[in-house]
Amino acid sequence: MKTTDQVALDDWYAIATASELTSRPVRTRLLGQDIEYMLSEGGSPLVREILADDRRGPALPVKERYGCLFTSLGAPKKDIVHIEEAEEDDRRFVPCGWVTMRASGLRVVENFLDMAHFPFVHTDILGSEPHTEVPGYQSEIRRDVDEVWATNCTFFQPRIAATEDKGDFVHLTYRVPSPFVVMLYRVCPTSPNRLDAIALFIQPMEEGLCRAQPVMYLVDQTSTHKSLLNFEQVIFLQDRIIVENQRPLLLPLEPRAEIPTRADSSSIAYRRWLKEKGIRFGTTAGGH
Ligand SMILES: [Fe+2]
Repeated sequence: MKTTDQVALDDWYAIATASELTSRPVRTRLLGQDIEYMLSEGGSPLVREILADDRRGPALPVKERYGCLFTSLGAPKKDIVHIEEAEEDDRRFVPCGWVTMRASGLRVVENFLDMAHFPFVHTDILGSEPHTEVPGYQSEIRRDVDEVWATNCTFFQPRIAATEDKGDFVHLTYRVPSPFVVMLYRVCPTSPNRLDAIALFIQPMEEGLCRAQPVMYLVDQTSTHKSLLNFEQVIFLQDRIIVENQRPLLLPLEPRAEIPTRADSSSIAYRRWLKEKGIRFGTTAGGH
């Protein structure tokens, strides 16, 4: 059943890789609603709801950005996130493919923000023992843009990126521009005055089911496409195990529902921001 959560309905969601659209309709799910996407006879993207007696609803809004097809079941108040790095010609564009997870999309965002799990989940890639401490960083809700940011994040990583084979402190900035989109900016190891940009677009299918696609804009002229893809996919499949095993499956927004630690300050800001928005889909409050 389609959610009644208007906050969730009034947003844009990536639901497909744009280059994979054909005239054959593909069925998927968004916010509890069956939808289909395809190329229309005129060759433009068409997304519609699949209604009870197999009728089709009117065409939903569509936009093509960052290699993905975005749609909305409501009336979005904000545009899709603007990623400046996507406009720079010398960057490698690496869409990493969809991964489906038995988890709330909000849990996936929170896990993406969490550095404390690096040594234990991404052992010898994004973290390693004994370097388990998360150095202090700042997190804030930016009112002017209505986004959550975590800045001045550093962490000791044994590999950092596909180009690197020795460890160093990586410098990271996290950005949450909408409840189901999260971004990471990483000081580029081969070009320290620039930032690699990685976005994770989440398609919330049901409260406890989603799929997500990482899309990377990298300053990297040496790695093969395959090695960049492998690097990200290995990490993401490790994350899938973690988010699928979190309990409760849905994200609690009540303060003190889960005991926070200092490393969780971005997670606290994210939950507070979600609660202020009044979003329910994918939270323990329920989106029906
Ligand atoms: Fe992770």
